Amino acid sequence: MGVNGAGETLPDLQGDVEAIKVELGARSYDILIGSGLVAGAGQHVANLFPNSRCAIVSDSSVYELHGRVLESSLDAAELEYEAVIVSPGEPSKSLATLENVVEAVIACGMERGDVVIAFGGGVVGDLAGFAAGIIRRGMGFVQIPTSLLAQVDSSVGGKTGINSPHGKNLIGLFNQPQVVLADTGILDTLSDREMRAGYAEVAKYGLIDRPEFFAWLEQNHREIFVGGPARRQAIAESCRAKAAVVKADELENGSRALLNLGHTFGHALEAGVGYDSNRLVHGEGVAIGMVLAHEFSCRMNHCGPDVADRVRAHLAEVGLPTSIHQIDGHGFTPEGLMAAIAQDKKVQRGALTFILSRGVGEAFIAQDVPPSEVRAFLDEKLKPT
Ligand code: GLY
Repeated sequence: MGVNGAGETLPDLQGDVEAIKVELGARSYDILIGSGLVAGAGQHVANLFPNSRCAIVSDSSVYELHGRVLESSLDAAELEYEAVIVSPGEPSKSLATLENVVEAVIACGMERGDVVIAFGGGVVGDLAGFAAGIIRRGMGFVQIPTSLLAQVDSSVGGKTGINSPHGKNLIGLFNQPQVVLADTGILDTLSDREMRAGYAEVAKYGLIDRPEFFAWLEQNHREIFVGGPARRQAIAESCRAKAAVVKADELENGSRALLNLGHTFGHALEAGVGYDSNRLVHGEGVAIGMVLAHEFSCRMNHCGPDVADRVRAHLAEVGLPTSIHQIDGHGFTPEGLMAAIAQDKKVQRGALTFILSRGVGEAFIAQDVPPSEVRAFLDEKLKPT
């Protein structure tokens, strides 16, 4: 039992699977959360897309571990399928890999009423979702996220796309899935590092506008890593938070930007290490970025230092990095980070937009942040400790 940002009691889950609706009119869909959903995926796909053929887009690591379970489930539902396997990792979010996926799906003779199943983490979901949106002007699209990060963030809300040499996610489209199947049991095979990286996005929802959820996480984070009801509850609350934001502003004309808390600094750090996941994975960049966003908020007199201290303490307790200096051989310069921030897609006509905070659960969109203040802050943060 826990509480959400509105102070309401979080419902304990009665059945094996919890359903959360993303309400977007004719494009509404369910996020189903529970253990064993991969083994039951075929029936869910068949209900939504009777007699369809499925293009499973996955990466070689995920498919080796879990592909057989998904295939058996599609066999049981008497659905035909073909698997299109890409290399694991961020480099697969490229035009070259997109072309390979699109051509492979077309070569299989898939039609518009057929379905692309994204079976993997954030990279696969973003890539496959983009492919599903452009093949034959749009095929069916099912998300089966296999990482914590994908279950609580990237598989929900319809953002799909690939990276450009100029920056992350600069080529893509909004393409909502028809269902998200978040199998909480499959997370047992993730490394501790991947779990922690996904947890950064869970904590983010508490920091944006759910202070009671953040307090609940401070008490229950260990159980989330172990599995069971606390894990499912944290994923469900995160998806509820995300669904509410997406319902209010699907195309990010305003309030959806709150979901980027920690991401402006985080993306700059990721760019700074050349997207080398040995040095920094996305969730780690977000964790450091969230601490920086709260420290910068304090510098701009929006909140007291106790807020940044609390954020830093919790993220450190779960084992996430909280300082630039923890990035292996970091080598960042203020100029380099400022250039990456300026390239961020949230820049509008030269003005910097940041997600800042007045307290835990009180994030807000700050436009016209003076670049000179950001630069002075980074100078300070990059000083040798
Ligand atoms: N991951 C940020 C968003 O979906 O808007």
